[in-house]
Amino acid sequence: MGTAITNKPLLGVLAGARAPIPPIWLMRQAGRYLPEYRAIRAKAEGFLDLCFDPQRAAEVTLQPIRRFGFDAAILFSDILVVPHALGQRVSFEEGGGPRLDAIKDPSALKGLWRDINHDRLEPVYEAIVRVKKELPPAVTLLGFCGAPWTLATYMIAGHGTVDQHPARLFAYRFPHEFAKLIDTLVEASASYLVRQFAAGVDAIQIFDTWAGNLPAGEFLKWCVEPCARIVAAVRKEVPGAKIIGFPRGAGTGLGTYLEATAIDAIGLDWTIELGFARDQIQTRRPIQGNLDPLALLVGGEALDRSIDAIVEAFSKGPFIFNLGHGVLPETPIAHVERLVARVRGTAGPA
Ligand code: CP3
Repeated sequence: MGTAITNKPLLGVLAGARAPIPPIWLMRQAGRYLPEYRAIRAKAEGFLDLCFDPQRAAEVTLQPIRRFGFDAAILFSDILVVPHALGQRVSFEEGGGPRLDAIKDPSALKGLWRDINHDRLEPVYEAIVRVKKELPPAVTLLGFCGAPWTLATYMIAGHGTVDQHPARLFAYRFPHEFAKLIDTLVEASASYLVRQFAAGVDAIQIFDTWAGNLPAGEFLKWCVEPCARIVAAVRKEVPGAKIIGFPRGAGTGLGTYLEATAIDAIGLDWTIELGFARDQIQTRRPIQGNLDPLALLVGGEALDRSIDAIVEAFSKGPFIFNLGHGVLPETPIAHVERLVARVRGTAGPA
């Protein structure tokens, strides 16, 4: 184990070390901006079929590693496989977002299974085993899950929304039943993550994409506490499990989140001020982030300036370079190449 850890710069940072050159990976690094992804995607029936095809999911996971040499591969899947494994109907419309059978009122919660059905997730675990075999030894393999609150926003609305209005209403109207749904998701997610570790991931990230839409008290109840319980439950089965939290939009709640959840590193969205993050957050925990995905899309001087500011602010401490959210489908590949080279100090002049 010891050598395996020192071989992987990203795991070193998660253990609190500063890397001379920051490790880099990008959320949504496998996806529609890559022609090789679009080619495989075109052969699959639907998006979930691709997620549940171990050979293709493994191939797609490896594509950005081959092309860009990132320091981490993130398992190709989706956070919504968990509602699917709890018996909810999930599909993805062509070119559109996810569609689920909305949970309109508490009676609809009876349709969910109490425990996660690992049979439905077996292809995900098999994809992990396949990726692990092919990954260069210095590259960290990341698993992930969606945080309970973020999953609940999709499960209740039945689709993506701008402000998570349906889930917020549900939580105010039916706090007892909502808490039960969150409990189910905490248990399911912890169990799912333990199985990902068993299959071979080196670390995991918990995506709380919609953490920023709650008042402080609700944020504590529906984001911080459930994530803390997942972290504790996973570490009970996998001692020392390395976990990155990504509470997007948490803003002034970041400090509370990282202390209460006991995560190893925190992902920052692009709105977080660099000086604040360096002085108030990185002094407590390794940080990951936080380039604006639109700067990557635009490229040129806007991209170079943004990269330099982030590297300058964060590279004196434990730091993993990433975006503040996922790669956008319209992002030119040349911009991603330039980003990697500039972070590693191997880019030519603009
Ligand atoms: O980061 C990676 O490269 C790993 C794979 C990954 C995907 N989704 C693939 C995907 C991960 C980690 C996710 C997480 C995810 N999925 C989140 C949390 C992070 C975030 O981006 O906010 C959320 C909220 C989802 C739910 C989801 N999946 C939505 C809202 C959509 C539609 C929007 C879109 O970009 O198309 C998806 C589909 C999805 N998940 C795609 C990919 C590559 C695009 C599907 C396609 O190929 O058509």
